[in-house]
Amino acid sequence: MAPSSSSQNNPILSGHNLKKSYGSTKVLKGVDFEIYPGEVVAVMGKSGSGKSTLLHLLGGLLTPDSGEVYLDGNRLDNQKESIRSKQRLNRLGFVFQFGDLVPELTVAENVELPLRLNGTGATKARQQTLAMLDRLGIKDQADKRLSEVSGGQAQRAAVARALVHQPAVVLADEPTGSLDQTTGELALEALVGAAKAQNTAVVLVTHDITVAAYADRDVLLRDGAVDTELHDALAGTAPAAPATPPAPTSPAAPTKPEGQN
Ligand SMILES: Nc1ncnc2c1ncn2[C@@H]1O[C@H](COP(=O)(O)OP(=O)(O)OP(=O)(O)O)[C@@H](O)[C@H]1O
Ligand SMILES: [Mg+2]
Repeated sequence: MAPSSSSQNNPILSGHNLKKSYGSTKVLKGVDFEIYPGEVVAVMGKSGSGKSTLLHLLGGLLTPDSGEVYLDGNRLDNQKESIRSKQRLNRLGFVFQFGDLVPELTVAENVELPLRLNGTGATKARQQTLAMLDRLGIKDQADKRLSEVSGGQAQRAAVARALVHQPAVVLADEPTGSLDQTTGELALEALVGAAKAQNTAVVLVTHDITVAAYADRDVLLRDGAVDTELHDALAGTAPAAPATPPAPTSPAAPTKPEGQN
Protein backbone atom coordinates (compact mmCIF):
# COMPACT_ATOMS: atom_id res chain seq x y z
CA MET A 1 0.00 0.00 0.00
CA ALA A 2 1.44 3.35 -0.95
CA PRO A 3 2.25 5.81 1.80
CA SER A 4 0.04 8.87 2.11
CA SER A 5 1.98 11.09 4.46
CA SER A 6 5.49 11.60 5.74
CA SER A 7 6.66 11.17 9.30
CA GLN A 8 9.34 9.31 11.21
CA ASN A 9 7.09 6.24 11.06
CA ASN A 10 6.65 6.28 7.29
CA PRO A 11 9.32 5.63 4.70
CA ILE A 12 10.99 8.81 3.53
CA LEU A 13 11.62 7.19 0.13
CA SER A 14 10.14 4.03 -1.33
CA GLY A 15 9.78 2.05 -4.53
CA HIS A 16 6.85 -0.29 -5.19
CA ASN A 17 6.92 -3.16 -7.72
CA LEU A 18 9.53 -1.36 -9.83
CA LYS A 19 10.15 -2.83 -13.26
CA LYS A 20 12.76 -1.67 -15.74
CA SER A 21 14.04 -3.25 -18.95
CA TYR A 22 16.58 -2.22 -21.53
CA GLY A 23 15.42 -3.79 -24.80
CA SER A 24 14.92 -7.48 -24.04
CA THR A 25 17.04 -7.31 -20.85
CA LYS A 26 14.77 -7.28 -17.83
CA VAL A 27 16.92 -5.53 -15.25
CA LEU A 28 14.37 -5.08 -12.46
CA LYS A 29 11.38 -7.42 -12.37
CA GLY A 30 9.30 -5.93 -9.57
CA VAL A 31 11.44 -4.52 -6.78
CA ASP A 32 10.07 -3.15 -3.51
CA PHE A 33 12.30 -0.91 -1.46
CA GLU A 34 11.83 1.47 1.44
CA ILE A 35 14.01 3.57 3.68
CA TYR A 36 13.09 5.51 6.82
CA PRO A 37 14.36 8.89 8.01
CA GLY A 38 17.95 8.65 9.24
CA GLU A 39 18.30 5.00 8.23
CA VAL A 40 21.33 3.63 6.32
CA VAL A 41 20.42 0.78 3.95
CA ALA A 42 22.99 -1.08 1.84
CA VAL A 43 21.84 -2.34 -1.56
CA MET A 44 24.02 -5.29 -2.52
CA GLY A 45 24.26 -7.56 -5.53
CA LYS A 46 26.79 -8.61 -8.10
CA SER A 47 27.83 -6.47 -11.05
CA GLY A 48 24.94 -6.03 -13.47
CA SER A 49 22.27 -6.99 -10.91
CA GLY A 50 20.57 -3.59 -11.27
CA LYS A 51 21.83 -1.68 -8.23
CA SER A 52 22.59 1.55 -10.09
CA THR A 53 19.36 1.23 -12.05
CA LEU A 54 17.38 0.96 -8.79
CA LEU A 55 19.21 3.95 -7.34
CA HIS A 56 18.49 6.06 -10.41
CA LEU A 57 14.81 5.09 -10.30
CA LEU A 58 14.59 6.02 -6.61
CA GLY A 59 16.24 9.36 -7.34
CA GLY A 60 13.89 10.24 -10.18
CA LEU A 61 16.77 10.20 -12.67
CA LEU A 62 15.21 7.29 -14.56
CA THR A 63 11.54 6.46 -15.08
CA PRO A 64 10.34 2.91 -14.34
CA ASP A 65 8.46 0.92 -16.99
CA SER A 66 5.93 0.27 -14.25
CA GLY A 67 5.74 0.65 -10.49
CA GLU A 68 5.83 3.73 -8.29
CA VAL A 69 8.35 5.83 -6.38
CA TYR A 70 7.32 7.96 -3.39
CA LEU A 71 9.41 10.70 -1.78
CA ASP A 72 8.08 12.32 1.41
CA GLY A 73 4.88 10.36 0.79
CA ASN A 74 4.34 11.98 -2.62
CA ARG A 75 4.56 10.26 -5.97
CA LEU A 76 7.83 11.16 -7.69
CA ASP A 77 8.18 8.94 -10.76
CA ASN A 78 5.23 10.32 -12.73
CA GLN A 79 6.04 13.99 -12.17
CA LYS A 80 7.39 16.06 -15.02
CA GLU A 81 11.15 16.55 -15.13
CA SER A 82 11.06 20.11 -13.79
CA ILE A 83 9.35 18.90 -10.60
CA ARG A 84 11.59 15.85 -10.22
CA SER A 85 14.61 18.05 -10.67
CA LYS A 86 13.39 20.43 -7.96
CA GLN A 87 12.79 17.51 -5.61
CA ARG A 88 16.30 16.20 -6.32
CA LEU A 89 17.77 19.59 -5.60
CA ASN A 90 15.96 20.11 -2.32
CA ARG A 91 15.38 16.66 -0.88
CA LEU A 92 18.04 14.35 -2.32
CA GLY A 93 21.83 14.17 -2.50
CA PHE A 94 23.82 12.00 -4.88
CA VAL A 95 27.24 10.39 -4.79
CA PHE A 96 27.68 8.89 -8.24
CA GLN A 97 29.59 5.71 -9.09
CA PHE A 98 31.91 7.43 -11.52
CA GLY A 99 32.23 10.81 -9.80
CA ASP A 100 30.83 14.02 -11.21
CA LEU A 101 32.60 16.86 -9.45
CA VAL A 102 34.15 19.58 -11.59
CA PRO A 103 37.96 19.30 -11.64
CA GLU A 104 38.50 22.98 -12.49
CA LEU A 105 36.47 24.24 -9.50
CA THR A 106 37.82 24.32 -5.97
CA VAL A 107 36.62 21.82 -3.38
CA ALA A 108 34.46 24.51 -1.72
CA GLU A 109 32.99 25.67 -5.05
CA ASN A 110 32.04 22.08 -5.90
CA VAL A 111 30.48 21.43 -2.51
CA GLU A 112 28.43 24.63 -2.35
CA LEU A 113 26.84 24.09 -5.78
CA PRO A 114 23.58 22.57 -4.47
CA LEU A 115 23.19 25.47 -2.05
CA ARG A 116 23.75 28.10 -4.73
CA LEU A 117 21.34 26.27 -7.02
CA ASN A 118 18.63 26.23 -4.35
CA GLY A 119 18.98 29.97 -3.82
CA THR A 120 21.13 30.13 -0.68
CA GLY A 121 23.14 33.38 -0.58
CA ALA A 122 26.89 33.30 -1.18
CA THR A 123 27.98 34.02 2.39
CA LYS A 124 25.64 31.53 4.02
CA ALA A 125 26.44 28.90 1.39
CA ARG A 126 30.16 29.26 2.05
CA GLN A 127 29.61 29.07 5.83
CA GLN A 128 27.57 25.88 5.53
CA THR A 129 30.08 24.44 3.09
CA LEU A 130 33.05 25.08 5.37
CA ALA A 131 31.16 23.55 8.31
CA MET A 132 30.49 20.40 6.29
CA LEU A 133 34.09 20.23 5.04
CA ASP A 134 35.21 20.55 8.65
CA ARG A 135 32.83 17.74 9.67
CA LEU A 136 34.40 15.55 7.00
CA GLY A 137 37.98 16.49 7.86
CA ILE A 138 38.91 18.32 4.65
CA LYS A 139 38.38 21.98 5.56
CA ASP A 140 42.07 22.63 4.85
CA GLN A 141 41.49 21.53 1.24
CA ALA A 142 38.63 24.00 0.64
CA ASP A 143 40.47 26.33 -1.74
CA LYS A 144 42.35 23.73 -3.73
CA ARG A 145 41.09 22.75 -7.15
CA LEU A 146 39.53 19.31 -7.17
CA SER A 147 42.21 18.18 -9.61
CA GLU A 148 44.83 18.92 -6.91
CA VAL A 149 43.46 16.77 -4.06
CA SER A 150 43.87 13.05 -3.40
CA GLY A 151 41.29 10.43 -4.36
CA GLY A 152 40.15 10.06 -0.76
CA GLN A 153 39.82 13.82 -0.33
CA ALA A 154 37.88 14.08 -3.60
CA GLN A 155 35.56 11.34 -2.39
CA ARG A 156 34.95 13.25 0.85
CA ALA A 157 34.23 16.34 -1.23
CA ALA A 158 31.62 14.30 -3.15
CA VAL A 159 30.11 13.20 0.17
CA ALA A 160 30.13 16.81 1.42
CA ARG A 161 28.33 17.99 -1.72
CA ALA A 162 25.69 15.27 -1.31
CA LEU A 163 25.01 16.26 2.32
CA VAL A 164 25.56 20.03 2.45
CA HIS A 165 21.96 21.05 1.75
CA GLN A 166 20.70 18.64 4.45
CA PRO A 167 18.72 16.41 2.10
CA ALA A 168 16.21 13.83 3.32
CA VAL A 169 18.06 11.03 1.54
CA VAL A 170 21.50 10.56 0.02
CA LEU A 171 21.74 8.04 -2.80
CA ALA A 172 25.34 6.82 -2.87
CA ASP A 173 26.53 4.51 -5.65
CA GLU A 174 29.71 2.61 -4.70
CA PRO A 175 30.98 5.68 -2.81
CA THR A 176 34.25 3.95 -1.95
CA GLY A 177 34.66 1.95 -5.15
CA SER A 178 37.79 3.70 -6.34
CA LEU A 179 39.54 3.93 -2.95
CA ASP A 180 41.88 1.56 -1.10
CA GLN A 181 40.34 -0.23 1.88
CA THR A 182 41.53 2.13 4.64
CA THR A 183 40.77 5.33 2.75
CA GLY A 184 37.44 3.87 1.70
CA GLU A 185 36.47 2.99 5.26
CA LEU A 186 37.39 6.48 6.46
CA ALA A 187 35.27 8.06 3.71
CA LEU A 188 32.41 5.75 4.60
CA GLU A 189 32.63 6.52 8.30
CA ALA A 190 32.56 10.20 7.38
CA LEU A 191 29.49 9.70 5.17
CA VAL A 192 27.52 7.65 7.70
CA GLY A 193 28.58 9.85 10.64
CA ALA A 194 27.66 13.13 8.95
CA ALA A 195 24.38 11.70 7.62
CA LYS A 196 23.31 10.34 11.03
CA ALA A 197 24.20 13.68 12.64
CA GLN A 198 21.59 15.46 10.49
CA ASN A 199 19.07 12.58 10.23
CA THR A 200 19.68 12.13 6.50
CA ALA A 201 18.88 8.61 5.29
CA VAL A 202 21.47 6.90 3.05
CA VAL A 203 20.94 4.32 0.32
CA LEU A 204 24.38 2.79 0.03
CA VAL A 205 24.92 0.78 -3.15
CA THR A 206 27.87 -1.58 -2.91
CA HIS A 207 29.09 -5.04 -3.86
CA ASP A 208 31.46 -5.01 -0.87
CA ILE A 209 30.33 -6.80 2.30
CA THR A 210 32.65 -4.70 4.49
CA VAL A 211 30.91 -1.57 3.21
CA ALA A 212 27.50 -3.09 3.95
CA ALA A 213 28.57 -3.57 7.57
CA TYR A 214 28.21 0.19 8.02
CA ALA A 215 24.51 -0.01 7.19
CA ASP A 216 21.62 -0.51 9.60
CA ARG A 217 20.13 -3.05 7.18
CA ASP A 218 20.94 -4.54 3.81
CA VAL A 219 18.97 -5.60 0.77
CA LEU A 220 20.24 -8.12 -1.77
CA LEU A 221 19.36 -7.82 -5.47
CA ARG A 222 19.53 -10.96 -7.60
CA ASP A 223 18.05 -11.76 -10.99
CA GLY A 224 16.13 -8.51 -10.99
CA ALA A 225 14.44 -9.02 -7.63
CA VAL A 226 15.08 -8.62 -3.92
CA ASP A 227 16.36 -11.99 -2.71
CA THR A 228 15.43 -12.41 0.95
CA GLU A 229 16.13 -16.17 1.03
CA LEU A 230 19.72 -15.92 -0.14
CA HIS A 231 20.18 -12.85 2.03
CA ASP A 232 19.10 -14.80 5.13
CA ALA A 233 21.18 -17.82 4.18
CA LEU A 234 24.30 -15.67 3.74
CA ALA A 235 23.62 -13.87 7.00
CA GLY A 236 23.05 -17.23 8.73
CA THR A 237 19.80 -16.06 10.23
CA ALA A 238 16.27 -17.33 10.43
CA PRO A 239 13.83 -15.57 8.09
CA ALA A 240 13.99 -11.91 8.93
CA ALA A 241 11.19 -10.19 10.76
CA PRO A 242 9.22 -7.75 8.61
CA ALA A 243 11.06 -4.49 8.23
CA THR A 244 10.17 -2.06 10.98
CA PRO A 245 11.04 1.60 11.08
CA PRO A 246 13.76 2.71 13.47
CA ALA A 247 12.57 4.31 16.68
CA PRO A 248 11.87 8.01 16.11
CA THR A 249 14.59 9.17 18.45
CA SER A 250 17.44 11.60 18.08
CA PRO A 251 20.03 10.61 15.47
CA ALA A 252 22.10 7.58 16.45
CA ALA A 253 25.81 7.84 17.08
CA PRO A 254 27.89 7.13 13.98
CA THR A 255 29.21 3.78 15.11
CA LYS A 256 29.98 0.77 12.99
CA PRO A 257 27.54 -2.05 13.70
CA GLU A 258 29.03 -5.29 15.00
CA GLY A 259 27.43 -7.59 12.50
CA GLN A 260 24.70 -8.21 10.01
CA ASN A 261 21.10 -7.66 10.91
N1 LIG B 1 21.38 2.59 -20.45
C1 LIG B 1 21.44 1.27 -20.56
N2 LIG B 1 21.18 0.66 -21.72
C2 LIG B 1 21.21 -0.68 -21.84
N3 LIG B 1 21.49 -1.54 -20.82
C3 LIG B 1 21.75 -0.97 -19.63
C4 LIG B 1 21.75 0.43 -19.43
N4 LIG B 1 22.03 0.68 -18.13
C5 LIG B 1 22.22 -0.51 -17.56
N5 LIG B 1 22.05 -1.51 -18.45
C6 LIG B 1 22.14 -2.96 -18.16
O1 LIG B 1 21.31 -3.21 -17.04
C7 LIG B 1 21.91 -4.15 -16.16
C8 LIG B 1 22.02 -3.55 -14.77
O2 LIG B 1 22.90 -2.44 -14.80
P1 LIG B 1 23.28 -1.62 -13.49
O3 LIG B 1 24.17 -0.53 -13.91
O4 LIG B 1 22.02 -1.26 -12.78
O5 LIG B 1 24.06 -2.75 -12.65
P2 LIG B 1 24.86 -2.62 -11.28
O6 LIG B 1 24.29 -3.63 -10.35
O7 LIG B 1 24.90 -1.21 -10.84
O8 LIG B 1 26.32 -3.11 -11.73
P3 LIG B 1 27.77 -2.63 -11.19
O9 LIG B 1 27.98 -3.30 -9.87
O10 LIG B 1 28.70 -3.17 -12.24
O11 LIG B 1 27.79 -1.14 -11.13
C9 LIG B 1 23.24 -4.52 -16.80
O12 LIG B 1 23.07 -5.73 -17.51
C10 LIG B 1 23.52 -3.37 -17.74
O13 LIG B 1 24.29 -3.80 -18.83
MG1 LIG C 1 26.43 0.20 -10.71
